[in-house]
Amino acid sequence: MRKRSLVALLAVGSAAFAQAQSNWPTRPITLVVPFAAGGPTDVVARTLGASMQKTLGQSILVENKLGAGGTIAAAYVAKAAPDGYTFFIHHNGMATSPALYRKLSFDPLNDFEFVSQAVEVPMTLLARKDFPANNFTELLAYLKANQDKVNLANAGLGAVSQLCGMMFQRAVGVQLTEVPFSGTAPAMNALLGGQVDLLCDQTTQTVPYINANRVKFFGVTTAKRIKVLPNAPTLAEQGLKDFEVVVWHGIYAPKGTPRPILEKVNAAVRTALKDPDVVKRMDDLGAEIVGENKLTPDSLHVWLKSEIDRWGPIIKAGGKFAD
Ligand code: MLT
Repeated sequence: MRKRSLVALLAVGSAAFAQAQSNWPTRPITLVVPFAAGGPTDVVARTLGASMQKTLGQSILVENKLGAGGTIAAAYVAKAAPDGYTFFIHHNGMATSPALYRKLSFDPLNDFEFVSQAVEVPMTLLARKDFPANNFTELLAYLKANQDKVNLANAGLGAVSQLCGMMFQRAVGVQLTEVPFSGTAPAMNALLGGQVDLLCDQTTQTVPYINANRVKFFGVTTAKRIKVLPNAPTLAEQGLKDFEVVVWHGIYAPKGTPRPILEKVNAAVRTALKDPDVVKRMDDLGAEIVGENKLTPDSLHVWLKSEIDRWGPIIKAGGKFAD
């Protein structure tokens, strides 16, 4: 008798669970952004979220969870309820953090469900407006003579601004003072205010400032020149051989989020990436919408693994770690 009522209870429970999945979403969905509001990751999240909520019929609320180069947000999402109401957008930091942090409380490959990649974004190397170098040649000469006086803003260990800055310092052969912020939105404010000297940051934030001539601009980090800043040389063509840092964004959910929900979110991402408003905004900011082959959960998992394998040895050779 007791056994039969347990079976009945389980049947009711699993019917309720199935119904919760088929009704999903019945309330707003949170999209966690690991950096400050107004910055490059936030811009991508809010642009996609505004479109996805039209498809899903519920609001997407962006929650900025700051700190430790994105690892605080990743750890939070890894432990969040897998009920389909928490999603996460992150970039290369998912792949670089395992090499940068001695102890990480989450496993990027095994503690998440994978939804899709979304956009790829070039980076730009900037200085404050009154920095005493007017072109890349002058910049290199100035840094070599004054490296102890120059600082470089970033968004912490795990941020792409830190990764780009690390690659740049290594390529040039200088060691600058790094100043971490909770995102590159506050780092950009400090650059505009003249409190920091240099910043490597994504076009999704920097294009308007470059076009308004509010910063000094020394080039892009892609292998080829980019459409949105057509006259800007690459760092590689100015002498930093093979220099290339491109930012890619992926969307994740806590491990155990039901597959039917992941499929609906994947479909909403695909729809958003074809939405003319999203396409225009991304185009204006230099971000490229990824091809069809990068829009599956499996392709994101394979890509993340390949990026962990790629960046691990490069970062470890730099010898800069956090606990
Ligand atoms: C941000 O959104 O603030 C940036 O993506 C941080 C970073 O440089 O990684």
